[in-house]
Amino acid sequence: MARRILVTGGTGTLGRRVTRELAQAGVTVRVLTRSLPAQPDPHYEWAEGDYVRGAGLAQAFEDVDAVLHTAHDPQQPGRDLAGVARLHSFSLAAGIRHFTQVGIVGVERMPGLAYYAAKARAEELLRRSGLPASVFRATQFHPFVHSLLSDLGRLPLLPVPQGLLQPVDVDEVAAALAEHVLRGQHDTESFAGPQVLSIAELAGQTLAAAGQHKRVVSLKLPVPMLRALHRGVLTDPGAARGKRTFAEWLATEK
Ligand SMILES: NC(=O)c1ccc[n+]([C@@H]2O[C@H](COP(=O)([O-])OP(=O)(O)OC[C@H]3O[C@@H](n4cnc5c(N)ncnc54)[C@H](OP(=O)(O)O)[C@@H]3O)[C@@H](O)[C@H]2O)c1
Repeated sequence: MARRILVTGGTGTLGRRVTRELAQAGVTVRVLTRSLPAQPDPHYEWAEGDYVRGAGLAQAFEDVDAVLHTAHDPQQPGRDLAGVARLHSFSLAAGIRHFTQVGIVGVERMPGLAYYAAKARAEELLRRSGLPASVFRATQFHPFVHSLLSDLGRLPLLPVPQGLLQPVDVDEVAAALAEHVLRGQHDTESFAGPQVLSIAELAGQTLAAAGQHKRVVSLKLPVPMLRALHRGVLTDPGAARGKRTFAEWLATEK
């Protein structure tokens, strides 16, 4: 088991949950953040740094024997990818014993999205890095799917693309990711939500939770990205599955 793990993105949606799980399991967690909180949680060590700009990493890697890379910068995928390569180099130089990288199910089969292309390329870079490493992939988190569907507009109709998603609960992802890290796996693991649903079904559930009545209209558009979504490339029915459905999450969180 890792003695001290550097967690990038330890302040993020997934990251803050998985840091809690790892600390509760007895691992010393050092959180990398671009800006230290006013009152840093004393349960963790804190390192100020930026893996995209390359600032603060020498100190962040001091006396660390494992890395969990959950951070991402979807707004600048090219620079993010260079930052991931930088984290691999620092990890090799520091002689870390294990590097876990968080990925997204199906990104290599999804055309036309620079962010997803960078996530797929980041997995290739890790495979070639020579690091003892693993990838933990998840499907779309409930709050992310909700953010895509909750801008309901004023029209009486809600047009959505035809497509399939398998939304997953972030707490369940964090628990499975912590177990993955603690096992020190050296392969790829995928974790997905309990149900594969059409975007129209998910939109219907979002409307119902918001107490709104609209007709959801599925659009079939001849765009490669949307065709891939329709084929279900972002789902993985064979993956380990969480239990909490999107509808259950909507009922308690919204
Ligand atoms: N959201 C989803 O639906 C979903 C689905 C499957 C997989 N994933 C993957 O899960 C991971 C976590 O996603 P999330 O949605 O939980 O993330 P998030 O809430 O957007 O948080 C992003 C984190 O990245 C850190 N960060 C960004 N740029 C940084 C930089 N240059 N240097 C250091 N830290 C930086 C931020 O830390 P500071 O702001 O404190 O610096 C923050 O903690 C990502 O790898 C993502 O691809 C997400």
